[in-house]
Amino acid sequence: MGTLLEYALIQVFHNFGALLVVGLSGYGFRVALRHPPPQMLALLVMLAWLAQGLTGATFGWVTYRSDHRLPDIHGIAVGALMIKISCVGMGVGLMATCLRWGPSWSAHRRMAIWAGSTVLACLALTAAAFLRWFS
Ligand code: HEM
Repeated sequence: MGTLLEYALIQVFHNFGALLVVGLSGYGFRVALRHPPPQMLALLVMLAWLAQGLTGATFGWVTYRSDHRLPDIHGIAVGALMIKISCVGMGVGLMATCLRWGPSWSAHRRMAIWAGSTVLACLALTAAAFLRWFS
């Protein structure tokens, strides 16, 4: 019961994190054509990407602590997990460049970066379904 509750609570944070990366990246993309999205938005999206990595890793840690082994996944599930981890790495990277250089970018560059974060978030969300059902 204790471990199941832990998984459920981690999943709550992980699901809301997914909502934030998809929703806020999409919002950034929508406004980027007209004006630079506030730096605070880039910071929020970067933190949301990091939270996804952290809560995702916490799933594995809870399994390791209770079963003394990492989750037993193969094939498509491993591929889906690698895709998710790569999306987090690239998402954090995109938002970090946005925080550093965003204010001096052209509208097209801004749109490309925010579109990138949106596409990565959708890709991770799609991979989540494959990780769930092939593991
Ligand atoms: C380092 C990155 C990540 C790791 C290690 C990770 C890990 C996990 C794990 C272990 C689960 C539970 C799988 C299961 O129920 O069998 C999960 C579920 C989920 N993840 Fe992630 N995740 C990561 C990133 C992301 C990202 C970036 C998103 C979305 C933008 C995301 C969205 C979801 C969703 C929606 C679920 C629930 C799937 C379902 O139960 O149908 N994850 N993730």
